Amino acid sequence: MLLLLLLAPPARGARLERPPHVVLVLADDLGWNDVGFHGSHIRTPHLDALAAGGVLLDNYYTQPLCTPSRSQLLTGRYQIHTGLQHQIIWPCQPSCVPLDEKLLPQLLKEVGYDTHMVGKWHLGMYRKECLPTRRGFDTYFGYLLGSEDYYSHEHCAFIEALNATRCALDFRDGEEVATGYKNIYSANIFTKRATALIANHPPEKPLFLYLALQSVHEPLQVPEEYLKPYDFIQDKHRHIYAGMVSLMDEAVGNVTAALKSRGLWNNTVFIFSTDNGGQTLAGGNNWPLRGRKWTLWEGGVRGVGFVASPLLKQKGVKSRELIHISDWLPTLVKLAGGHTNGTKPLDGFDVWKTISEGSPSPRVELLHNIDPYFVDTSPCPGNRMALAKNDSSLEYSAFNTSVHAAIRHGKWKLLTGFPGCGSWFPPPSQYNTSEIPSLDPSTKTLWLFDIDRDPEERHDVSQEHPHIVRKLLSRLRFYQEHSVPVYYPPQDPRCDPKATGVWGPWM
Ligand SMILES: *[C@@H]1O[C@H](CO)[C@@H](O)[C@H](O)[C@H]1NC(C)=O
Ligand SMILES: *[C@@H]1O[C@H](CO)[C@@H](O)[C@H](O)[C@H]1NC(C)=O
Ligand SMILES: *[C@@H]1O[C@H](CO)[C@@H](O)[C@H](O)[C@H]1NC(C)=O
Ligand SMILES: *[C@@H]1O[C@H](CO)[C@@H](O)[C@H](O)[C@H]1NC(C)=O
Ligand SMILES: *[C@@H]1O[C@H](CO)[C@@H](O)[C@H](O)[C@H]1NC(C)=O
Ligand SMILES: *[C@@H]1O[C@H](CO)[C@@H](O)[C@H](O)[C@H]1NC(C)=O
Ligand SMILES: *[C@@H]1O[C@H](CO)[C@@H](O)[C@H](O)[C@H]1NC(C)=O
Repeated sequence: MLLLLLLAPPARGARLERPPHVVLVLADDLGWNDVGFHGSHIRTPHLDALAAGGVLLDNYYTQPLCTPSRSQLLTGRYQIHTGLQHQIIWPCQPSCVPLDEKLLPQLLKEVGYDTHMVGKWHLGMYRKECLPTRRGFDTYFGYLLGSEDYYSHEHCAFIEALNATRCALDFRDGEEVATGYKNIYSANIFTKRATALIANHPPEKPLFLYLALQSVHEPLQVPEEYLKPYDFIQDKHRHIYAGMVSLMDEAVGNVTAALKSRGLWNNTVFIFSTDNGGQTLAGGNNWPLRGRKWTLWEGGVRGVGFVASPLLKQKGVKSRELIHISDWLPTLVKLAGGHTNGTKPLDGFDVWKTISEGSPSPRVELLHNIDPYFVDTSPCPGNRMALAKNDSSLEYSAFNTSVHAAIRHGKWKLLTGFPGCGSWFPPPSQYNTSEIPSLDPSTKTLWLFDIDRDPEERHDVSQEHPHIVRKLLSRLRFYQEHSVPVYYPPQDPRCDPKATGVWGPWM
C-alpha cells in the first residue's frame, strides 16, 4: 500500500519541473522613451538584448506613481481596495499597505522560496510590522521612503507640525540601520548585494529576488564617467539622467551575468518593469505619449517592461496583449506552484500563457484609478485643474465626471475629471520645443480614446461613441461602489528623526 502510494503518478496538473527562480527588477520613474528598445537616444544595451531575446510587453501598464504601483505589485489588488488610491505614503504618515493584505513574498515563501528584497520599499514603515522583513522577505537591504541622495542615502522632508525640515539617513540591512555606505552610489551597492545573494543561493532552492532600484528617480546624480557618452545632450537634466539610465543598464547586466555564472539562469524568470512613467521635470521622457508621471495619461501609466527567460515558449516577440502590474502576483504564485486562496479577492490575472505562449490576455479591462481628492502637485502651463463643474447631465449620470478617474476596456480608454498635466513632451535637445501644450479647454472633464489607433491620446472620440462612454462610466460607477474609503492620514510629528538621525518606525 505504501509502495503504491509512493509510485502513484503526480496529481493531475502538478508541475513536474522544479519551480523557477524569479528575479524582478523594478526601475524607478523610467520613462517610455528612455530605453534603447523604444528608440531612445539613451543607450541600454543590456536591457535591449534581454528584451530582444524575451517577450517585450508593449501593452503593459503600471500605476502613475511609486507607492500605488508597488502596492499593486505586491498585493495583486487595485488601490481602491486597499485605501491607497490617493498619492503616495509620505514620510510622516502613519500608513502602510494594510497588514491584513497577504503579499507576494509571503505566498512564495509558503511554497518553499527563499525571498530577498534589495532597494526601495515605499510601502510604509511607521511601525515595525510594516517593514519588508515582517511582510514575507527573508532578507532586506535598502531604503524605506520614496527618494534620497544616491551617495549619502539621506532623505529630507518638511514636517508641518514642527515647521521644520529634517534630513536623516534612510538605509537598512534587515531592520538594522546600515551605516558605512556613505559616498557609494546606490546602484552599485544594490547590485553588489543582489549578486552576493545570487552567488550564495543554493541552486536547488527556488529564489525570489525583488530588486527595486533607486535608479532613475531624482535627484539627478551620477558618477562623472557615465556623462561622457552623452555630452551631445544639451539639456542639463537629460544629460545626467541619460548617464543614470546607462548605469542602471549596467547594473542589470551584472545581475543577469551573476545568474548565468551561478547556473541559475536556465531556470529563471527575469522580469524588468518600471514603476510608472518618466518625470519630465527630472530628465525623464515619454515621447510620443501624452503626460508624465503622476498623470493618468498614457505617459504616466504605459510602462516599460519585458520578460526574459529560457523557460518562455515564445521568444523574441512583442506582446500586444493587455497586461498590468497587478497581474504579476497571480502569475508568479501560479508559476511557483503556489496558491492565492489566502489572499483577498485579486484584481490581477495569471498572464503566464499570454506571455510565454502568446495566448489572448485574460484581462480585458483595467481600472487605472479613481481618486476623489486628486491634485496635480506640478501642473503644467495651460492645463490647470478643471473647475469642479456640474457634469451630471442626464446622458452621463452614472458617474460624477469631475472625479479624477480612468478606465480601459479593450482598446477604449475613458478619462474623467482632471487627469493631470496633459502636454506632450518631445525629448529635450532633439526638437525645437520641449512642451506641446494641450488645446483642451480647462473645463473639459471627459475624454474617450481608441488607444490602439491613437496611443498618443490626440483625438477624443467621446462625441462619436456615446454608448461606449455610457458603458465605461457605468463600469467606473461599479468600481466606485466597491471602493474602500481613501486612507490618507495627517502627518504624525512623532516621525521626527532628529533624535536618532534615522528615518524609521516610530510606533
Ligand atoms: C516656520 O518657520 C519659519 C522660519 O524657520 C518662520 O519664518 C515661520 O514664521 C514659521 N511658521 C510658523 C507657522 O510657525
Ligand atoms: C558591474 O560589475 C563590474 C565588474 O565587477 C563593476 O566594475 C561595476 O561597477 C558593476 N556595475 C554596477 C552598476 O554595479
Ligand atoms: C541548467 O543548468 C544546470 C547547470 O549548468 C544543468 O545541470 C541543468 O541540466 C540545466 N537545466 C536545463 C533545464 O537546461
Ligand atoms: C488552497 O487551495 C489548495 C488547493 O485547492 C488547498 O489544498 C489548500 O488547503 C487551500 N488553502 C487555503 C488556505 O484555503
Ligand atoms: C447639476 O445639474 C442638474 C441638471 O441641471 C441638476 O438637477 C443638479 O441639481 C445639479 N447638481 C448640482 C450639485 O449642482
Ligand atoms: C463631483 O466630484 C467633485 C470632485 O470630487 C466634487 O467636488 C463634487 O461635489 C461632486 N459632485 C457631486 C454631485 O457629487
Ligand atoms: C518647430 O518646427 C516645426 C517644423 O519643423 C515648426 O512648424 C514649428 O513652428 C517650430 N516651432 C517653434 C516653436 O519654433
